[in-house]
Amino acid sequence: MDNTDRVAIYPGSFDPLTNGHVDVIERAMKIFDKVIVAVLHNPSKKALFSVEERLDMIRQTFSTSSRLVVDSFSGLLVDYARQTDATAIIRGMRAISDFESEFQMALMNRRLSRDVQTIFLMTGLRWIFTSSSIIKEVAVFGGDITGMVPHVVKCKMKEKFPLLQ
Ligand code: PNS
Repeated sequence: MDNTDRVAIYPGSFDPLTNGHVDVIERAMKIFDKVIVAVLHNPSKKALFSVEERLDMIRQTFSTSSRLVVDSFSGLLVDYARQTDATAIIRGMRAISDFESEFQMALMNRRLSRDVQTIFLMTGLRWIFTSSSIIKEVAVFGGDITGMVPHVVKCKMKEKFPLLQ
């Protein structure tokens, strides 16, 4: 890393990581010198996996490299961006339904900090319908989630949902 390196944060709940997230991370890695996948530590939101479990699953999915950092943060994203010298926030954009909340978040972050730009990356078409919440809903009832999440995530989901194939 030197000080001309372009650093981006990809923030989210990642509860759990899906192949849609993996796709966005891979795309971001092609544009930025360093990508920080940042799991929000949010005690007021009930999550299926603890922050540590989520970090572990992300770390096991990607081979470690100085260009890809997996971390957690709490508080304001723009403050975390300042601490990590990130100049971009990456968000995946799936469909029109994502637009309104993403637009609101991006404008709020821009108002809070002029030093960081939000960049939307389109996920591959085959991930357009995937989200952590829909995958959890399918898994609770034993539906097959193969191919929608990384292998390690499927194994961890099986521990939580015995009905899962
Ligand atoms: O995966 P998610 O749940 O859509 O991610 C949302 C996330 C973590 C990006 C967003 O909630 C966030 O950045 N929270 C940190 C608090 C913050 O900075 N809020 C002000 C901007 S809206």
